[in-house]
Amino acid sequence: MSAEYLAAHARSLLDPETFWAEAAAGIIWTRRWDRVLDDSQPPFYRWFTGGVLNTCYNAVDRHVERGRGRQTALIYDSPVTGTVRSYTFAELQHHVSTLAGVLAAQDLHKGDRVLIYMPGVPEAVFGMLACARLGLVHSVVFGGFASKELATRIDDAKPRVILTASCGIEAARVIAYKPLLDAAIDLAEHVPERCIVFQRPQCQAALTPGRDLDWATALRDAVPAGCVPVEATDPLYIHYTSGTTGIPKGVVRDNGGHAVALKWAMEHVYSVGPGEVFWAASDIGWTVGHGFIVYGPLLHGATTILYEGKPVGTPDAGAFWRVCEQHGVNVLFTAPTAFRAIKREDPTGEQLTRFNLSRLRLLFLAGERCDPDTLNWAAERLGIPALDHWWQTELGWPALANCAGIGLQPVKPGSPTRAVPGYDIRVLDDEGHELGPDATGNIVIRLPLPPGTLPTLWHDDAGYEKAYLRRFPGYYLTGDAGYRDVDGYFYVMSRIDDIINVAGHRLSTGGLEEVLASHPDVAECAVIGHVDALKGEVPIGFVVLKAGVNRAEPEIAAELVERVRNTIGAFACFKTALVVAGLPKTRSGKILRGTMKKMADGDHFTMPATIEDASVLSAVGERLQAWERNGS
Ligand code: COA
Ligand code: AMP
Repeated sequence: MSAEYLAAHARSLLDPETFWAEAAAGIIWTRRWDRVLDDSQPPFYRWFTGGVLNTCYNAVDRHVERGRGRQTALIYDSPVTGTVRSYTFAELQHHVSTLAGVLAAQDLHKGDRVLIYMPGVPEAVFGMLACARLGLVHSVVFGGFASKELATRIDDAKPRVILTASCGIEAARVIAYKPLLDAAIDLAEHVPERCIVFQRPQCQAALTPGRDLDWATALRDAVPAGCVPVEATDPLYIHYTSGTTGIPKGVVRDNGGHAVALKWAMEHVYSVGPGEVFWAASDIGWTVGHGFIVYGPLLHGATTILYEGKPVGTPDAGAFWRVCEQHGVNVLFTAPTAFRAIKREDPTGEQLTRFNLSRLRLLFLAGERCDPDTLNWAAERLGIPALDHWWQTELGWPALANCAGIGLQPVKPGSPTRAVPGYDIRVLDDEGHELGPDATGNIVIRLPLPPGTLPTLWHDDAGYEKAYLRRFPGYYLTGDAGYRDVDGYFYVMSRIDDIINVAGHRLSTGGLEEVLASHPDVAECAVIGHVDALKGEVPIGFVVLKAGVNRAEPEIAAELVERVRNTIGAFACFKTALVVAGLPKTRSGKILRGTMKKMADGDHFTMPATIEDASVLSAVGERLQAWERNGS
């Protein structure tokens, strides 16, 4: 075990104020904080109260002022458009300050919200940083979300301005974003004043007169804007994530704690130095993209890569290795599902031998449980440490990891290793008693959470308490279940709620059920996550039709699939809806989703003693078997 890691972890818990004050020296402050940790209103904690800074200044301008102006800050690599473009820190400063000028001209002020619904193009990154520059609060919505989800986020964040692009590109398909955005604005109650539209050559968006502005035209007249100092505790962004219902939770990220934690993590977790190349192969619409495509690497003076492509099919399973060679990637971060996709197409790692990967020294995997086969395959083929690590949108940066910057620890496949400094992670039984080694229970984190984690939900302190803090007073409930071994390694095995993980994307089965239930022929329904060799899990829906509905099952199933694509988005991978006569329930009326999941996955299960009617469960089993045999 690394002594440096052990000492850092112990110190971070024994004396968090000194630990994080030292880390905060890596950030440039306009005004030093009054208190490192403000614990005057538990269970709400704030970091660096009284401190004043600007996140964009720390991510961009400071590097220009301190000799990194000519270093590459951002590389845009887009196999789907055949583009590779680099921006130095000085160029990034120019683009960001000019776009900030466009926003300032809209009379936006500190605290106003700007929603960003864009694909992985540099302009989206400029947009995020331009907001940070002016103290505006951005809310990036993943481009794969359909209008209804977008509308929900517009209504909650109430943006004055929306930044968008004419289209995204999914492998060979051009997906027009503007009609989706227009439909979302029609659905939403809140009316944004302005949409600024980045026109891509692949698709021209129609602009709504009086509301929409053309991005390029707006930039032409813009006067570059400077950085607006904000309180450390002011929000930098809101990022929505799936809860257990169809209503997403608006996770708030502040400026001060976030900047300190991310810069610290770049060095101590990812072991990346300023000037090195870090690639998080994710999407800016996910928290990984916020933290480790945009803010983390730039705050640290590293070069970051924005990749608009897939691990396979753009053009083949060698895509990641081409990017690593071409841009000299030192550390790569992606989801296990990406590796499963590569392994499926290139099981022997033939593609790897075509490229020089001598600069790649570490691989980090996160976003879903990493099966040991995938981890071992990656480590063996690449010949470098492959490190599973665990975190959540709410936390914003890794909580369990093999902290490469403070001494690599032995890798145990299946475990994201130990608690990162700052995190006091425990396993509790349902009564709140701490469990010893190897006993499975609720994974929780003792309060206070470290800097960079969510201080609350957007305009919803009560919702934050209810969802995360009430179940076990004094602890943050992660919603994950698992255990810790005798060496302090954690194993994150499953969720305790109705959340499923599809290709590293978090989805609420409750949200999916709401969509199915809205179909006029559906009386009731249940959605479960079914194990999938590529995506980890995919959702399957079981629906009971209303009395008197005699339509053919394939027709209804196709409508349900379409409904989910149009309401939530295609990325939910909802492809299977099975009509059943009834849903298995307990005598008190609770649907036995867990038993149905075990049945679907072929896992051992016992007939629940409380089941109302065992024949209903048997009928569901028969329907599943028929589906597995015939694929329908
Ligand atoms: N905009 C619009 N549509 C999108 C989208 C976006 N940003 N992202 C995904 N979709 C659509 C896809 O086009 C696809 O549509 P289809 O059903 O019409 O084909 C559907 O959503 C599923 O997409 P995806 O999950 O990308 O599956 P895939 O089968 O095309 O590719 C993988 C499989 C494994 C290559 C892919 O899931 C992947 O790269 N996963 C890694 C995800 C990741 O990095 N997660 C990290 C979060 S930390
Ligand atoms: P998200 O908020 O979308 O990043 O999803 C977070 C959830 O993904 C976690 O609560 C876990 O359920 C799951 N997850 C993320 N990383 C891992 C990992 N390394 N191992 C197991 N589960 C993970």
